[in-house]
Amino acid sequence: MSLLVSFTVIGESSSDHLARKIASKLKSKYIGCELRVFPDGESKITLKTKPKGKIVVVHSVYPPVDSNLVRVLALVSQAKKYSSEVYVVIPYMGYARQDREFLPGEVVTMSLVAKMFKVAGATRIIVVDIHSILALKHFQIPTKNVTAIGELVKYFKRLHLKYPLVVSPDMGGVERAKNFANMMGVDYIALEKHRDRKTGEVIIKSKNHYEVRNRDIILVDDMISTGGSIVKAAEHLKKQKCGKIYATCTHALLIGDAERKIRKSGVTRIVSTNTIPGKTSMVDVSPVIVKAIS
Ligand code: R5P
Repeated sequence: MSLLVSFTVIGESSSDHLARKIASKLKSKYIGCELRVFPDGESKITLKTKPKGKIVVVHSVYPPVDSNLVRVLALVSQAKKYSSEVYVVIPYMGYARQDREFLPGEVVTMSLVAKMFKVAGATRIIVVDIHSILALKHFQIPTKNVTAIGELVKYFKRLHLKYPLVVSPDMGGVERAKNFANMMGVDYIALEKHRDRKTGEVIIKSKNHYEVRNRDIILVDDMISTGGSIVKAAEHLKKQKCGKIYATCTHALLIGDAERKIRKSGVTRIVSTNTIPGKTSMVDVSPVIVKAIS
């Protein structure tokens, strides 16, 4: 354990709660920051004390995404003045969905964001359930993606659901659903979702799924943004006369009235992690992050 004490953990308001938990588990010093937002929207960050040793900056990039991105980059560049080793924990990595050119002419902004972290001085990146492994490949420094699935499963095991079935709202999430289901010791299926790349509209193309009848459902996704995917999946499953529906994800952005729409579609509870703090973030990811750091 003596190696662990050489870290200093820096947190700013977007992730300070999680940063404190990480610092405590690493038995390391925690340093907070003062954030001032000028009338024109610029952020000014001041570190409360000087960091020492290896530094861990913990900062999610959720809305306001661009402001949080600049804030974490500013913290990394400041940390680099005090240490040659700057680990950056980005619990929720914004821009990860822009990992490739889907339509001609689209900018792969994830690639630029990854370069910015290197230029700012990051020496190692740790993310949680990043949207795609391709997004991680844009970084030119060592990276690690850790998963919160084990922590979410622990939560669901305590609920004693009725003959539960794990469901992915789309085929892209089938591996996630499979891992979740294996850890739960239950079955899984994946729905066929289609999203219009121009309008963002979501439809479920799946036919009937008689196996969902009377079973409690755990709808698993990496993230919930507008709630469109979960709403369509829940409506589809309700038509098949399933039992209660629980929606779970690592990152609950819950943009606008997403939470209300999800509940209206028949979802009993939304369970997410503290990569994005909020009403639904009941599961702590600090244990898996600390394991990756140490
Ligand atoms: C898509 O590939 C992702 O895994 C999520 O399903 C999606 O980003 C969720 O977005 P929304 O809540 O807006 O449907």
